[in-house]
Amino acid sequence: MAEIVLTGIKPTGEVHLGNYLGAIRPAIDTTSQSADTSLLFIADYHSLTSMHKGEDLRHSIYNVAATWIACGLDTSKSILYKQSDIPEIFELQWILSCFTPKGFMNRAHAYKAKLDANQADGKKDLDHGVNMGLYNYPVLMSADILMFNSTKVPVGEDQIQHLEFARDIAQKFNNNYGDTFTLPEPITKKDSLIPGLDGRKMSKSYNNGIPLFLDSKKLRKKVMKIKTDSSPPESPKDPDDSLIFDLYKYFSTDEEQNQLAETYRAGIAWGEAKQILFEKIENYFTEKKEVYDDLMADTGRLDQILDDGAQRAREIARPLLNEIRKKTGVSL
Ligand code: TRP
Repeated sequence: MAEIVLTGIKPTGEVHLGNYLGAIRPAIDTTSQSADTSLLFIADYHSLTSMHKGEDLRHSIYNVAATWIACGLDTSKSILYKQSDIPEIFELQWILSCFTPKGFMNRAHAYKAKLDANQADGKKDLDHGVNMGLYNYPVLMSADILMFNSTKVPVGEDQIQHLEFARDIAQKFNNNYGDTFTLPEPITKKDSLIPGLDGRKMSKSYNNGIPLFLDSKKLRKKVMKIKTDSSPPESPKDPDDSLIFDLYKYFSTDEEQNQLAETYRAGIAWGEAKQILFEKIENYFTEKKEVYDDLMADTGRLDQILDDGAQRAREIARPLLNEIRKKTGVSL
């Protein structure tokens, strides 16, 4: 069976180092290595469940596209597209929703978390702030996946339940109309816990991230904010107990790490260690940042790339949707 690897990225706000090290870099390293087809899309209509400012969403979409390309995604091999450019997905979403027991959706983690939060806040209406987009999120995600007969879906561990929904819904459809959809498998890695400025997992919700592609001054300022203890500059430091060192490891060779570890043990001022890390990160991203800046300055080029991706994706989606329409009886 052909290996079809698909994953979606929800554009929300700036991409940070944690996203890069935990998701983007590993995905780019593995895409197209084993896949016969690799699809990567920007889940812009998923963002619309919570992002209601046009300018912000537009910027985020370009930001994600430019980031992935700048970080090395080869768009001649991988198909990069915007979810909203594929009308087939939304037609399929409706069809799938007619095979989705409402009770499933009541059990979706993201929805339940909202209800719990409302309860904790003492809200009378537990559905307060829940729109139908949020409620239907798992059905749209199932359509994203099933529309392309994806076999493997790399996702974070928090998305496993969504994959189960996709499989269940696909099975319900298959049971009724005969084999139509491939049942997708999630690929998850243990979270590689990239620490943020305060030592907790780097995350938008903790506001402790280092955004990618900052200019030099701002990047340095961020790095200087990494939490350290109050040991004096000359005292020996333990490299295994240092956020600065943890981050340094992602950008350096073994030899460089050994060298810095020695310097730590001999005694190094935190400011100096931060300066070393800052230079390392800046160097690592110099060329990528140039590509990123060029793309962000020429969004017409990004539009072209995304249009091309959408065309290629629709060529895959169209025949399957036609087959599905026939099976349901709406195509005469
Ligand atoms: N829900 C995913 C997230 O928040 C994004 C996403 C949307 C996705 N559709 C998808 C991921 C389909 C994989 C496959 O991370």
